[in-house]
Amino acid sequence: MPKKNDTLVAAKDKKSDEFYTQYEDIQREINAYLEYDPDTFRDKVVLLPCDDPEWSNFTRFFAQNFETLGLKKLISTSYATESKIAHETVQLSIFDFLTSFETTSPQFDKTISPKHGKIFTLNRRSKKIDINDLQWRYLNGDGDFRSEEVTRLRDEADIIVTNPPFSLFREFLAWIMQGNKKFLIIGNVNCVSYKEVFPLIKENKIWTGCRFNERVNGKIMTFRVPDSYPLTGTELFIGEDGKRYISVAGTGWFTNLDHGRRHQPISLMTMADNLKFSAHKEIRECGYKEFDYYNAINVPYTDAIPLDYEGYMAVPISFIKYYCPEQFEIIDANTIRKNLNVPIKSHGLIKDKDGAIEGKPTYARIVVKKKGL
Ligand SMILES: C[S@@+](CC[C@H](N)C(=O)[O-])C[C@H]1O[C@@H](n2cnc3c(N)ncnc32)[C@H](O)[C@@H]1O
Repeated sequence: MPKKNDTLVAAKDKKSDEFYTQYEDIQREINAYLEYDPDTFRDKVVLLPCDDPEWSNFTRFFAQNFETLGLKKLISTSYATESKIAHETVQLSIFDFLTSFETTSPQFDKTISPKHGKIFTLNRRSKKIDINDLQWRYLNGDGDFRSEEVTRLRDEADIIVTNPPFSLFREFLAWIMQGNKKFLIIGNVNCVSYKEVFPLIKENKIWTGCRFNERVNGKIMTFRVPDSYPLTGTELFIGEDGKRYISVAGTGWFTNLDHGRRHQPISLMTMADNLKFSAHKEIRECGYKEFDYYNAINVPYTDAIPLDYEGYMAVPISFIKYYCPEQFEIIDANTIRKNLNVPIKSHGLIKDKDGAIEGKPTYARIVVKKKGL
């Protein structure tokens, strides 16, 4: 049976990228950065590179909060309708994307519209600014973030914020990093062990945001999908507003903006106390097993990490949302391995046979070392 967070993986394979982020999810995340530093966005040019205002709550949120955040400029670009439809495996209708924002505006051109992306800008002015002040025009191209046109906007920006197409997550992150930009984007816990992503996490160049792979008010992160999106799969449902939604487990934010949660160490017990009092029977009864060919102990639960163990510890990938750089050093990671005959995918120290304990492969792990011991 597929696991729930396989939905994003499926989106990656099938290129189902039309998932729209909810306003309150954006607001909650941004608030966490403002609590840490109220000037996070002050005097900054913010680019939202996969965002159409009538669809994107990112554009809505940043336009509505332009003054409160102290933005210098907001730029939002959208991907051309025909490119969206061509990119999708799920059959979507062009009417899903034609918005009244565009069609009621004097610059609407029905021949240009399907093939061209749009750019929306909001500049600082003396009068009060809100979403109605957004100025727009068609882009020369289709609004692909990789195009020269949008890359120039990346270069102009200070901070890039969006929920990018899941299927292009690696390329999207690389594009941001090439521009050496600050960013806040949505991804999936699976991305942590990608070879393009993990080294950046290990070097503390990027980290997880405030909400990562967790429920808020009992709910996993939920996205709106277009009205013509087929309602198949248990994660898809019709909301109280009659619109279609999908819940995606394992979703969260990646960023290189600082926030308070990142610096809060997790509270842990000593190894002796874990062996006696751990909530996990496995730890109380079997203790911490060592890897066959790798000098580390296996810690199958983040809350069972021993406070006083000086060596390498292999912890679950989900540890990453509790990672505090003052508390731990990240050494290495490997991806899930079902068969010891399949070469391990590692990022550094872990070698081919190292993922085994008593001859059996282990799940994906991050290898960490406690600091200050
Ligand atoms: C996951 S959706 C999120 C949309 C919006 N950011 C939000 O969160 O509501 C990703 C969006 O990126 C668009 N997209 C897909 N490929 C793209 C590309 N190469 N360049 C720019 N946008 C792209 C898709 O059409 C889709 O609307």
